[in-house]
Amino acid sequence: MLAEKEIQELISRALEARKNAYAPYSDFRVGAALLSDSGGIYTGCNIENSAYTPTNCAERTAFFKAVSEGVRSFRAICIAGGPGEREPEKPCPPCGVCRQVMLEFCGPDFEVILAVNGQQYEVYTLDRLAPMGFRL
Ligand code: THU
Repeated sequence: MLAEKEIQELISRALEARKNAYAPYSDFRVGAALLSDSGGIYTGCNIENSAYTPTNCAERTAFFKAVSEGVRSFRAICIAGGPGEREPEKPCPPCGVCRQVMLEFCGPDFEVILAVNGQQYEVYTLDRLAPMGFRL
């Protein structure tokens, strides 16, 4: 279980990363902050593309940054997203593709924080968000 201080740090890093979102097509801006087992934090934002399908979600940006630097074990991720540049108004749950990427690198107790702001957030386990996930 994450401590409140760790949760607050991840929320503020996710909201900060959201400012870098490149979302000219949807105008839906998402930030993520991924906490590794050794305490490192890897942030990400969504990066859209005019051909649409190359779009990368904030969560996968964070995972791919970490994995590309040799980090493969994780405790938690915080996600914050919503339309425009204003503050998010509700939780932004991860898409199915991002849940599958989490299944690749994380165990059932991996924590997923869906943050609106530092006061409003929900914590889920990966097991709850992706029951019966596909693994080889
Ligand atoms: N998006 C994310 O980055 N993460 C999510 O959890 C949901 C969706 C992005 C993808 C796309 O750039 C925009 O939000 C609208 O779908």
